[in-house]
Amino acid sequence: MLTTKSRIGELLHNPIGRDLIGRLVQYAGLDEHLLKNPLLRVVPFSVLPRLAGGLLDGELLGELLALCNQCEGEPLPVGSDAHCWWKEAVIYQVYPRSFCDSNGDGVGDLPGLIGKLPYLASLGVTALWLSPVFDSPNDDNGYDVRDYRKVLAEFGTMADMDRLIAEAHARGIRIVLDMVLNHTSDEHEWYRRALENEPPYRDYYIFREGTENEPPNNWRSFFSGSAWKYEPQRKAWALHLFSRKQMDLNWEEPAVRADVCDIVRFWRERGVDGFRLDVINLISKTSLKNGSETVGSLLGTTGIEQYFYGENLHPYLRQLRTEGLGDAFAVGETPGTGPEMNKLLTAPSRGELDLVFCFDHLDALGKSRFDDYRYDLNHLKRCFLAYQGEYADTAWPSIFVENHDNPRMLSKIDPALTHRQQVSKLLAVLLLTARGTVFLYQGQELGAANVAFESIAELRDVEAINRYRELCEQGKDEASAFAAVLSGARDHARVPMAWNGSANGGFTEGTPWIRMGDPRRCNVEEELRDADSVLSFYRVLIALRKAIPTLVYGRFVPVDPKRRDVFCYYRTDEQGTYYVEANLSDRPQRRAQDVNGMQLLAGNYAGRDVRLRPFEAALYRC
Ligand code: GLC
Ligand code: CA
Repeated sequence: MLTTKSRIGELLHNPIGRDLIGRLVQYAGLDEHLLKNPLLRVVPFSVLPRLAGGLLDGELLGELLALCNQCEGEPLPVGSDAHCWWKEAVIYQVYPRSFCDSNGDGVGDLPGLIGKLPYLASLGVTALWLSPVFDSPNDDNGYDVRDYRKVLAEFGTMADMDRLIAEAHARGIRIVLDMVLNHTSDEHEWYRRALENEPPYRDYYIFREGTENEPPNNWRSFFSGSAWKYEPQRKAWALHLFSRKQMDLNWEEPAVRADVCDIVRFWRERGVDGFRLDVINLISKTSLKNGSETVGSLLGTTGIEQYFYGENLHPYLRQLRTEGLGDAFAVGETPGTGPEMNKLLTAPSRGELDLVFCFDHLDALGKSRFDDYRYDLNHLKRCFLAYQGEYADTAWPSIFVENHDNPRMLSKIDPALTHRQQVSKLLAVLLLTARGTVFLYQGQELGAANVAFESIAELRDVEAINRYRELCEQGKDEASAFAAVLSGARDHARVPMAWNGSANGGFTEGTPWIRMGDPRRCNVEEELRDADSVLSFYRVLIALRKAIPTLVYGRFVPVDPKRRDVFCYYRTDEQGTYYVEANLSDRPQRRAQDVNGMQLLAGNYAGRDVRLRPFEAALYRC
């Protein structure tokens, strides 16, 4: 058991301790090498608040210790080098609402997606992750499920779903469904019955009796405002970490866990190959204590340290594995966890998840999604290095730079799009030569950029709209409130796919549910014709990754890892050795390694220069 008398060295031995201290050091802007200092290791933990420069107080310290002690007695993570389909997979995320509309109502649907399976097969992807397709009032575009066993009517029918699974399988493409199990819609039948106090549903959600003027604690919702909504019918407050229509399930109630496992089994039996588990690290909430205001102001969400790694997280995941997932693939979305926690969550020996999404690389240190800044690829390099080496021997990393919750990576790196082709292709090289499972997000293969939204009326996302309203209420004028939500808006990634260069991009014959991006700048039809397009480049690289298992399983050997602005590494095993070089800057850079004599397999420039050109990236066979 760790106590405040424990030394920092002991704390660093504890997986959770290591992650938490790593975080603190990062937030305090200190150098991580500090942790290797033997003098620091003998310092008692109780001194940390002083070292951390006001980031920690005694109470928070106690809570962090309790978190660390949570993994006492837990089985240690042990890796395995077994080969399996999901390690080799190139998983393509479809945002069904914006992929392809087959009936002109402006909303993408399953028949539309089925019609594009030939495109996806020719791109070479081997699995699709569909953002939620279940019946939902769409307060958060399907992440608020009303009925887990029913397909959203706008998207189609269960028969369409069965056809999608069958036709994808016939093309060698697996299906991964997005399961939102931390919360349901407030229109879910369970919630309705919970409001009526009907057993056992009355305990299905997190209710706390109280008076209307005072929520049970200071937790904030990720989508602005308090995380509590007062329900007069029950004279109680109900917890919603996300929107007011996304009510947190009470996983402490055994019947909830049994029902959730049942839902997962239902979809497995229909032939689904895997699941993406939405915010799955948030499921265990045993303490409703106030959140630390310090953590809250750092991370923007008060309360998070109370539930992002809850007491029963591991046992619940093991139950989900044995009673629900079985041998299906499972990737968890786990905001806030660090590498050692991730090993505990995904090591094959522990029977929980296969992979997690970690988001540390998506924003620079000290920045968050809503900050308007230019992303430096050296940060991506730092994060990749951390997950490619020793981490990948124990657990298995997920490799991605985009999804439906983030603006386009290209725009963060090169907002003016001066190097659009090069940067998009550089990202393709890094992703498809990394050790881990690759995830691509729709449109990324075209080099899609952020959208020039002009006003709040063009945004659809509940997160951005709530945030905008809150800023206005706090006294910001409309223009500055809009400017403050624009760079982080999730809608940048959610505009429809552009299949051709027409006004609606061939996405719909009707009016799209959200404005289009810029179909003239990049669209499937033109990029298919152009051998030099981002799309053609993705096709080549995906094919190479599939043909060369060394790129998936081989060792990762960085070259000169500390050097700024250049990222070079070997991938190697008995079957061969490959070399990747990338210039992370917009200025020419000296090569880290002579590439004469290597065979160029793919690169984002024609020919070869003495130096690496701006954002040049290439893959060679040695
Ligand atoms: C996850 C989803 C996001 C959603 C949230 C609440 O972060 O990726 O889109 O809004 O969970 O379900
Ligand atoms: Ca439609």
